[in-house]
Amino acid sequence: MSAYFEIKDLLVGFRTFEETRPVLNIERLAIERGETYGLVGESGAGKTVLALTILGLLPKPAGVIQRGEIWFDGEDLLKKSESELASLYRGKRLAMIFQDPMSTLNPVFTVGQQIERVIEYHQGLRGHSRTQKAVELLEMVKLADAKNILKKYPHELSGGQRQRVVIAIALSCGAEFLIADEPTRNLDVTIQAGILQLIDELRKNLRITVLFIANNVSLVNVFCKRVGILYRGKLVEEGPSPLVIREPLHPYTQTLISALPRDRSERPRFSGFELKPEAPQGCPFYSRCPIGVEFCVQQQPRLEAVIRPEHKAACFLARSR
Ligand SMILES: Nc1ncnc2c1ncn2[C@@H]1O[C@H](COP(=O)(O)OP(=O)(O)OP(=O)(O)O)[C@@H](O)[C@H]1O
Ligand code: SF4
Ligand SMILES: [Mg+2]
Repeated sequence: MSAYFEIKDLLVGFRTFEETRPVLNIERLAIERGETYGLVGESGAGKTVLALTILGLLPKPAGVIQRGEIWFDGEDLLKKSESELASLYRGKRLAMIFQDPMSTLNPVFTVGQQIERVIEYHQGLRGHSRTQKAVELLEMVKLADAKNILKKYPHELSGGQRQRVVIAIALSCGAEFLIADEPTRNLDVTIQAGILQLIDELRKNLRITVLFIANNVSLVNVFCKRVGILYRGKLVEEGPSPLVIREPLHPYTQTLISALPRDRSERPRFSGFELKPEAPQGCPFYSRCPIGVEFCVQQQPRLEAVIRPEHKAACFLARSR
């Protein structure tokens, strides 16, 4: 029996002239209904590719799903046709917020025109009831003076206001699963906190499930019950957020956490790496790992429970430290 949302044995690659280059290789990632799961990884780790794969939006023909299953409420999304995904899932049950709100908003239409078009398309509302619904949605995302905002063009809003509009559009059709792909990446720290707070409130009030993608582990600590650390397309650690942050098991997670500033005035600290050769048959982190041993070159470590059943790491030496 699959979880509410569950990825099984997913392998995704991008075609080049010579080969299909693997980009994602996830053995299992499960999310419970109503949970916020944080997925953290550096640039290029495969976070957006994962989000696009879930929604059936992987760029084709370059992107290839080589194998795997993505279970959502009892159905394998990878077995759905494009028309089923478009008519029954995307927007209706699964929604996504992209890291740059301007990639969702069209600069030549007002906020009202854009949000009302979505309401009309999905809910068939027109005229006053359509505008009323748009106002309600903007109020839901805590935008003051919603009627006035409807008349504005995206460039007339602040970054935080734009991202709130995007969240309103994403949730306008009652989606129950929200993928938030670094929704605060380009925002100031104080504005970030407001958006994260909003997503958390919406999760509770609308009873939605959230896959929250971030490139910074500090963002997931407060709002995500569990966190997964993605490195070169693989989950290298997973567990309850406070535990992963307090007692990281994988050397990569330890590096991420030691790079966090201790207070706001301090700049991020990065521990130095002595780069070693890559280990194509072995651990993907070997070339950057400060404690890797010869054995790590020969085999790929699997994501397995270490000490506690709910805290997993893909590292041969995790148990011995
Ligand atoms: N259309 C594409 N064609 C070929 N390769 C791609 C394409 N899109 C992404 N990739 C590759 O897939 C890998 C993962 O990219 P992805 O955009 O998922 O990273 P990310 O974790 O979202 O990074 P960021 O934090 O910068 O958004 C990268 O190596 C990237 O070069
Ligand atoms: S398996 Fe080896 S190389 Fe990989 S993270 Fe663990 S110690 Fe480092
Ligand atoms: Mg991305």
